[in-house]
Amino acid sequence: MALKPLSITDNDQSEEDKKLQEKVKASGAIPTHIAIIMDGNGRWAQQKGNIRLFGHKAGVESVRDITESCAQLGVQHLTLYAFSTENWSRPSSEINGLMGLLVQSLRKEAERLRRNDIKLVTIGQTGRLPKRCQKELGEVIEITKDNKRMQLCLALSYSGRWDITEAVKQISRDVQKGSINPDDVNDQLISSYLSTAAIPDPDLIIRTSGEYRISNFLLWQLAYSELYITKTFWPDFRRDELYRAIFSFQKRERRYGKVKNGHNKTVPSSVINQIRS
Ligand code: FPP
Repeated sequence: MALKPLSITDNDQSEEDKKLQEKVKASGAIPTHIAIIMDGNGRWAQQKGNIRLFGHKAGVESVRDITESCAQLGVQHLTLYAFSTENWSRPSSEINGLMGLLVQSLRKEAERLRRNDIKLVTIGQTGRLPKRCQKELGEVIEITKDNKRMQLCLALSYSGRWDITEAVKQISRDVQKGSINPDDVNDQLISSYLSTAAIPDPDLIIRTSGEYRISNFLLWQLAYSELYITKTFWPDFRRDELYRAIFSFQKRERRYGKVKNGHNKTVPSSVINQIRS
């Protein structure tokens, strides 16, 4: 794939949006890793009297807008649940349409990814994807491999249980070979065997379309992620709503199972006795 050399530029960003992003950055920490369950493409299309694929096509516009705005805000990792293991059970016409859209988008967006200094990676059983998708993915991964500003990870033919199962299989093989002692298996070791080994756990998980489910996404990795669920369907989820999600994240107090700061003083035994009595 021949690409013109391009430099990083956000020239097409409006002044109003730049100001809004400054506000988001000034109001608290920007999540290092945002992961998104993009849902509601089909319902969005059906509400408009269109076929489901029309919704997926519109969803690509949201992918572009959210990817670009995350990079501009300084998010380091963006993971998008683009095709789950369970999605293989959809009608073949929808699967073919989605795969076609993926190839088309990769072709079209390769330059933009490069211009924005974004590195593309994937997680999931990409070997199950049609050859044309694998080829296009391979090319864009290669072209963007040295990019530094943000990593865009597409979860394709992915499921959390598949990821954990593969890790357990590999750990078992390494135990059998003697390269791991079963007593050394801990959180960090398991994380290092997952497909996301090189990516920090998500700080914020966004799900669109109002469903309160995780749908077999990053099951191990989301242990301490903050969740943001919006009724907005994915094709309508654009940067203004991303900013809202980040504002909401910034207001949360992440305790990782511990107590609030300043609440960790030893409780006097007289108080404990009072509670027990
Ligand atoms: C969920 O909506 C969405 C998907 C299964 C696919 C997401 C794909 C895209 C946004 C387009 C291609 C992606 C890239 C990365 C270029 P749904 O079909 O489950 O909607 P529904 O819940 O309303 O039926």
